[in-house]
Amino acid sequence: MKKHNLKTMISEEEVEARIKELAQQITQDYTGKTLHMVGILKGSVPFMWTLARYIKLPLTMDFISCSSYGSGTTSSGVVRFNKDLDEAIEGKDVLLVEDIIDTGRTLSYLVPMLEQRRPNSLKLASLLDKPSRRVCPEVQADYCGFQIPDQFVVGYGLDYDQCYRNLPYIGYIEILEG
Ligand code: IMP
Ligand code: MG
Repeated sequence: MKKHNLKTMISEEEVEARIKELAQQITQDYTGKTLHMVGILKGSVPFMWTLARYIKLPLTMDFISCSSYGSGTTSSGVVRFNKDLDEAIEGKDVLLVEDIIDTGRTLSYLVPMLEQRRPNSLKLASLLDKPSRRVCPEVQADYCGFQIPDQFVVGYGLDYDQCYRNLPYIGYIEILEG
């Protein structure tokens, strides 16, 4: 980890309020259905938990693990598949939950793979979106918390070298020279 400063981008209150809004929208959109939330480990866990708490629907959860990042602050470009789902998703209304869409490589790999398993529906919720960094333009969130500029962010599940996932707000990292 390089020497760095940590600054606030989105406060805890703002993050919580926005997730609550998304949860209300999801509750409306899926009325009468059972939602199957699929979190992408590890970054999605805090977002998934807050979202789930405010969704007023029968709901099940599963997790998948997949990463396109090395240990630094830039994507390696190679998607590594670490852990598959525990349960089949055929016929289910699946909501894929991600912490951030950056280049879109992770999801351009995962979404078609999950579509092949024939869920009844498959939508994507992402806490953050960095549209200026996209290399896979087909990757779009159906539910997005915040669009952010091209800065490396941490907190609310997002890490820098596995640290800061537990921050209750979204911060950004400023790498110090030398
Ligand atoms: P993508 O495949 O480039 O869209 O990358 C998505 C994954 O990269 C996310 O699930 C994060 O784990 C990680 N990532 C992308 N941008 C950031 C960031 O600013 N901070 C921390 N992790 C990030
Ligand atoms: Mg991730």
